[in-house]
Amino acid sequence: MTKATAEARANIALIKYWGQSDPRLNLPLTSSISMTVDKLVTRTTVEPDASLKADTLSINGVAQAGAPLARAQRHLDRLRQRAGSAAFCRVASENTFAASAGLASSASAFAALTVAGFAALGAKVSEREMTTFARLGSGSAARSIHGGFVEWRAGPTHEASYAEPLAPASHLDLHDVVVVLSEGEKKVGSSEGHGLAETSPLNAGRVARVPALLAEVREGILHRDIKKLGRAAQEDALLMHAVMMTSTPSLLYWTPGTVAGLHAVRRWREEGLMVYATIDAGPNLHLLCAGRDAPEAARRAREELAPAALLDNAPGEGARLVAAHLF
Ligand code: PMV
Repeated sequence: MTKATAEARANIALIKYWGQSDPRLNLPLTSSISMTVDKLVTRTTVEPDASLKADTLSINGVAQAGAPLARAQRHLDRLRQRAGSAAFCRVASENTFAASAGLASSASAFAALTVAGFAALGAKVSEREMTTFARLGSGSAARSIHGGFVEWRAGPTHEASYAEPLAPASHLDLHDVVVVLSEGEKKVGSSEGHGLAETSPLNAGRVARVPALLAEVREGILHRDIKKLGRAAQEDALLMHAVMMTSTPSLLYWTPGTVAGLHAVRRWREEGLMVYATIDAGPNLHLLCAGRDAPEAARRAREELAPAALLDNAPGEGARLVAAHLF
C-alpha cells in the first residue's frame, strides 16, 4: 500500500443518464454517451494509514463531515472489499470548479477517487472494471474514466454496465462552452432525481426514443458531423428536462436565464452559427459547437446572457495517476 494521486475530468452527456433500473448498483434505464472535457478537473490523493480509525476527507482544503464524507467512505468500502484490504484512508481532493453547480463534479470526483483508491490499496483492475466501480460511486463517473467520446452501456448487471471509448479526444474538435448562470448549490441533486424519473408519464416516451438518438450521436461522432450529433443531443436534453419537470415532485432546474439562453441559441443558429444546447441537472447551458466556432459562441453568450462565469472546454483526456500528491 502506498500514497497515490489521480486526476480525472468531468464529462458532458450528449445522451443523458436519467433514471435507474437498479438504484443500489446505479444501473441506468438507458445507455448514455458523453464527451470528457478538458477544463473541469479533480485531483485526488489517497493514503492508506493503519493508525487511522476511520477514513478522512478534505475537499479544497476543507475537512468534510456528514453526507459528503459518508458517501466517500461507502465508496472506499467497495474499493477495500475488491482490493482485499482493511486499511482506512486519508483522502484529499481539489476541484478547479464549483461543486454541485450542475457541472457534473461527482463524475470527476468518483473517477479520481476510484483510480487513486485502487492504486493506493494495491489492487490491479482492468480499465473496464475501473469504470464499473466508478459507476457505483456516481453513475456518470463511469464515463470519466475514459477520455474523448465515451459510451456507457446500460447493461443488466454490475459487470455488464461499463463505459467504453467511442473515439479519442483528438478525433473531433467538439467544444462545450459552459455558460454558468448560477454557482449556487442545487436543491435536488441527481442522486435523488434519478429515483423520480419513473414517476413522470413522459419517461417511457424518452426511454423509447433514446436508442435512435444514441445511434445518431454515435454516427455524428464517427463522421465528425456536429450538426447531426448536436441536434440529437439537444433533443435528448429537452426530453430529459420534460421528464424532470413532469415527475412527482416536479424538478424545475431552469431559471429565466436558461430559457433566454435556449431562445438565443435558436436565433444564433438561424443566423448561421452552428451551435446546440444541452443542460444537466442545473440551470447552466452547455453550448455544443465546433472548436472554430467556440470563440464566437462564447462572445455572444457573454454579451447576451450575462453569465456568472464561462468556460470553453475542448475534448479532454481520461483519468490517470499523476506524480504530484496533494499532501
Ligand atoms: O452521475 P449522476 O448521478 O450525478 O447523474 C448525472 C445526471 C446528468 O448529469 C443529468 C446526466 C448525465 O448523464 O450526466
